[in-house]
Amino acid sequence: MPNRLTVLRAGIAAGILLSTAQAGAEVSRAELIVSTCLACHSGNASDGGNATIPDLTEGYPGFLVASQMKAFRDGTRPATVMGRHASGYSDAEIQALADYIDVMNR
Ligand code: HEC
Repeated sequence: MPNRLTVLRAGIAAGILLSTAQAGAEVSRAELIVSTCLACHSGNASDGGNATIPDLTEGYPGFLVASQMKAFRDGTRPATVMGRHASGYSDAEIQALADYIDVMNR
């Protein structure tokens, strides 16, 4: 029969596990979104990529990703595909993916 302390400890452990799992889910969500970007945005002309689409894996700063995604979404920056693409993301998602790209590029 578990005593009160054991039950309390189990509860705390479960709480820690749960918060760790949630933090992990956030990171992998940003990673998942960014992996869709990299289908177009990785590599440059010399290494087999598209010369007209900037490589987001080589030093592209996160703050610029965020501002440009919002400009595409708002239509203040004209685009072929990015306006459509950016319209699917909330401010929080744009911030999360921009932060992910920023850290990835350090
Ligand atoms: C289907 C290919 C494709 C995908 C997928 C894609 N992009 Fe783009 N991206 C483009 C193209 C093409 C442009 C040039 C603007 C335009 O014509 O839409 C661009 C432009 C940009 C720019 C501006 C770059 C600059 O310096 O001028 C940023 C930032 C950007 N994309 C971020 C993203 C992010 C973040 C994602 C993922 C959420 C993403 N893109 C997904 C094709 C793509």
